[in-house]
This record gives sequence, structure tokens and C-alpha cells, in this order.
Amino acid sequence: MPNTLPILTPAFINDTLINNRIILAPMSRASAEDDGTPTQNMMTYYESFAKGGYGLLITEGTYTDANYAQSYANQPGMVTERHKLGWQNVTQAVKKTNGKIILQIFHAGALSQHVTQSYAPSAVKPAGTMLEGYGHKQGAYDIPKTLDLNDIQAIKQGFVQAAQLAEEAGFDGVEIHCANGYLLDQFLTDYSNERDDQYGGPLQNRIRLTCEIIREIKQRTGYAFIIGVRLSQSKANNLDYFWPNGVTDAHAIFTSVADAGVHYIHLASDMKGYTYHSRTKDKINLTAYARDVTGLPVLANGGLHDIELANAVIDKKQADFIAVGKSAMVNPDLPQKIQAGKPISEFTFDVFKYGVSIEGQLKWQSENETRRGRPEKS
Ligand SMILES: Cc1cc2nc3c(=O)[nH]c(=O)nc-3n(C[C@H](O)[C@H](O)[C@H](O)COP(=O)(O)O)c2cc1C
Repeated sequence: MPNTLPILTPAFINDTLINNRIILAPMSRASAEDDGTPTQNMMTYYESFAKGGYGLLITEGTYTDANYAQSYANQPGMVTERHKLGWQNVTQAVKKTNGKIILQIFHAGALSQHVTQSYAPSAVKPAGTMLEGYGHKQGAYDIPKTLDLNDIQAIKQGFVQAAQLAEEAGFDGVEIHCANGYLLDQFLTDYSNERDDQYGGPLQNRIRLTCEIIREIKQRTGYAFIIGVRLSQSKANNLDYFWPNGVTDAHAIFTSVADAGVHYIHLASDMKGYTYHSRTKDKINLTAYARDVTGLPVLANGGLHDIELANAVIDKKQADFIAVGKSAMVNPDLPQKIQAGKPISEFTFDVFKYGVSIEGQLKWQSENETRRGRPEKS
């Protein structure tokens, strides 16, 4: 009997038919060469999710200019010809198995753990401390320098050029990272944006740069090329942040990016999961609301490897797709497992025992397999 679970049904994003609703969430693995070029291991890593049946893969955050965008050591970039060729190996491997793949384009702004001097909308020291396991730097974040209008134009060009290179490299689209407290979200967020020009003040000004980037990418890429945006209330360094004006903010943000021309909206949730992060302060379901006000496909995220919850989210039309992060690391074949009714492996933070890189995970995996394969002591 065919498996008719809601998450296994196909659906469109723009003109692209996605085989099922299960998407690989973007996850930084800090595994590129020192100059940001994707490696063979990255190719095999992304290929494994396509082979495992994910309807769509979204890559890790990939930096968009060589100046201030990079967040971590060994983060991949999409700036040079070498980067493009490295990513082309990845897209070709994914395409061979009929997979679909989108490049997440990213600027760290004040949350860079890599650059000597970080830049941001305003000189506001970020809350919290740098992420462990990433980058050269650890401890408190530095105070960033304020971007001037020329810098902002250069940032916009970085995103647009990265999208054009992504199209040349064979990606199905790009996802603009305006979530989790990174640069574009720093513009959007009240406390990190103290500007009094056209990029600061009212919310329409704070979302302006993201909208300008969407519009310009749309002009420079083909009709079928997917442009998505990732948004979130919470931040990597502030998990409990909610948009201060609840659904009023949500309305302004969603309609602005929809008017600019995005093809999907991806709402990220962090450690506390979908149920916690997908509501506004005034208790509106954010993913359902995004669907309602824009009519666009919406991706939900956060603990949605819980198949019952994921099916309910799709079935109740609260979202169109689910993006799976951590669980995918130990279930590169999650869609096939669900289809076959096989058990799903449980994620453990032990995956990072040897670091966040793909190589670290492979080392942990082989250690585990050796241990499991060892005969019991009598
Ligand atoms: C190791 C790791 C790296 C991540 N890197 C990114 C990233 O590059 N871009 C991004 O938007 N989110 C990133 N995230 C957040 C995930 O996409 C996702 O939102 C989060 O893990 C919650 O989903 P989950 O419960 O399915 O894991 C990362 C998460 C993890 C665990």
C-alpha cells in the first residue's frame, strides 16, 4: 500500500516540484578548505541526503563577501571562481540522484567569530558569548563598527553576486539568511539597529536591506531560480527573543518580503523547537500566519523529526514543508526510513565529540561502529 503520510506528498516551490515535504535544514559544518572552497567530503555529505530521499537540501550558511561576512574558520564561501567550482561538484552529485539543492547565503555581521573587526548596522555589543566549536575566537563578542551607506551597497552586491554564482554552479535557488541574529536580522531587530537613516527606525526601514537584496537577485537570476528567506524571532545569542509587537511585526515582515518577490518563507526555531518558537507574543501561530498573509509556501523548523508533529503541521496547513536539522545528521535517509516505517535514530550531541565538522562526525561514527561491532565480553 502506498504511504500517504502528509509529509511524503509532493508540493511546489515556485515552478519546482519537490518530491516530499522533508527538507534538510541549513547546518554549518565548518568543513571547507581554509579559503572557503567546498571539499570532496562536503560533496559526499550533501549527496547522502539526496540519496536518502530529502525533497530539498538547504546548504549551510555560506559567506557572501571576502571582507566581513565570514563567521567561522572553514566556513564555505560563494565569492570566488574556486568556490563556485567546489560547489558545482556538490550540485552535480546531488543532481545525479535527482535531488534539489539551495545555497544559504549569509553575512555574520556582529556575530563573526572570524574577522578581526566585525561590522554591523550599529556599534552594539552582541549579547551572549561566541559559539563553542566554531571559529578562531571564543568568549564575549567584540563591539562592531557601524556600516556606512557604501558598505551597505557592497554587502548587497555580495549577496547578489553570490546568488548569481550559485545559479552558475547549478543550484536550484538561494536562501537569504535573515534569521538567528546574523547581519540581516541585526538590521531587523530593534535593539541591534540604532540607525536613523533609511535602514533604521520603523520596521519597514529595518527590513529594507533584505527586500532590496531579494529584488536585485530576482532581477539578475532566471525565472525558475528559487529565492527564499529565512526568518526567526529567536537568535543564536538570544533564544527567548520574540518580535516585540507580535502579529503586527509579523504582518509587516511577511508582507514586505512577499512584495519583494520571495518564493518561500522559512521560519527557523532553535533549541526549544517549533511549538515554542512558532508562536508570536500574542500567541498567533507564526507559520500558519505567514501562509495566510502571503500565500507563499512556508517551511517550519525545530524538532520536526517528531513525525507525528510534522504530519500534523502539514495536515493542519500550518506549514507546507518541514526542515530537519540535527536529526538529519544521524538520519541522512530519514524520508526513506519514514516511507519504510523503519525506526529513526536519535540525535545525540556526542556527534560533536570531535568537533562540528563532517570529519569529526565521521570519526565519531566509525568509533561507534567499531564499538558496536565488537563482540560482547564473556
Ligand atoms: C550544527 C548546527 C549548525 C547550524 N548552522 C546553521 C546555519 O548555517 N544556518 C542556519 O540558518 N541555521 C543553522 N542551524 C540551525 C538549524 O538550521 C535549525 O534551525 C536548528 O537546528 C533547529 O532545528 P532541529 O531541531 O531540526 O535541529 C544550525 C544548527 C546546528 C545544530
